[in-house]
Amino acid sequence: MHYRTLGRTGLPVSEIGYGAWGISGSGWIGAQDQESLQALQRAIDLGVNFIDTALAYGEGHSERLIGQVLRRNPDTQITVATKIPPKNGQWPAPAGVPVEEAFPGSYIEACTEQSLRHLGIQTLDLQQFHVWNDEWVGQGDWAETIQRLKEQGKIRFFGVSINDLEPENALRLIETGLVDTVQVIYNIFEQSPEDTLLPACQQHHIGVIVRVALDRKQEVYEHVQNLVSDLGTTIDELPEIALRYVLSHPVVSTVIPGMRTLRNVERNSAVGDGKGLPPEQVQKLKKHRWIRNFYV
Ligand SMILES: NC(=O)c1ccc[n+]([C@@H]2O[C@H](COP(=O)([O-])OP(=O)(O)OC[C@H]3O[C@@H](n4cnc5c(N)ncnc54)[C@H](OP(=O)(O)O)[C@@H]3O)[C@@H](O)[C@H]2O)c1
Repeated sequence: MHYRTLGRTGLPVSEIGYGAWGISGSGWIGAQDQESLQALQRAIDLGVNFIDTALAYGEGHSERLIGQVLRRNPDTQITVATKIPPKNGQWPAPAGVPVEEAFPGSYIEACTEQSLRHLGIQTLDLQQFHVWNDEWVGQGDWAETIQRLKEQGKIRFFGVSINDLEPENALRLIETGLVDTVQVIYNIFEQSPEDTLLPACQQHHIGVIVRVALDRKQEVYEHVQNLVSDLGTTIDELPEIALRYVLSHPVVSTVIPGMRTLRNVERNSAVGDGKGLPPEQVQKLKKHRWIRNFYV
């Protein structure tokens, strides 16, 4: 496994991280806990040292499973990132809603305490807001609260998960210097983070966590067929190409595919070998950029 630095946090993170949404609990999307624990353990054995979860994933179930895995691996340095859900339950964060409705200070503190309990740890490596709207810069008491939690040793670093397909909706926040990392959708089709977000992250040394790199939704089928014929490859090779595409960008710190199965853990971890795609293949993939908006 190859490691990169998570921006200004200085934390070494595996190129392939573990997206822990899919292990949120039996009955939720059918994941069985034993299978989830096995997949997580295999990922750690293969060098994965970054896990992304959230308080909202199975109402803490994903965090509790990760807590079990942390206790089983006391000698391994594992970085865990979690997220605070918006108090008003509004996903994604709409414009015009004050931050006090989504992230009031007392709620940030209560959620952080809850995540620490679920994970069974004293300090969170990375606490993130699960949604963000750049209008919130300068509003409310969230920034002081995050600073206080850092001083109290409850969290080490702070980041935001950027709303789907709105990569520019964190640029003001990045300018403030109050954020250490961003989490963003970036993949072969959704290339728009390359325009302004990733350059801003490079300039300010912000860690970049890439989610939904595999983008396997049904509506992508036709685009996938075009991609396969253009690259002269097979559908089976696409997940590797998709992960390598985002890792080819030097500002990306880690990519966090969801992977409940051992097979996918093994296939994906093997991609974290420090080798990006050849530049000519990256160029070829550029023209598969596809502008979408799921919300219209
Ligand atoms: N708003 C937010 O902050 C937000 C939103 C969405 C996601 N996330 C984070 O991002 C993570 C990833 O998102 P995601 O799970 O929606 O999308 P994804 O990583 O793009 O896709 C995951 C899916 O791809 C499958 N898969 C994994 N590796 C594969 C391979 N090599 N070949 C074929 N299929 C493969 C997985 O199957 P199996 O699971 O069956 O192995 C799973 O069904 C989440 O777990 C979460 O941590 C955050």
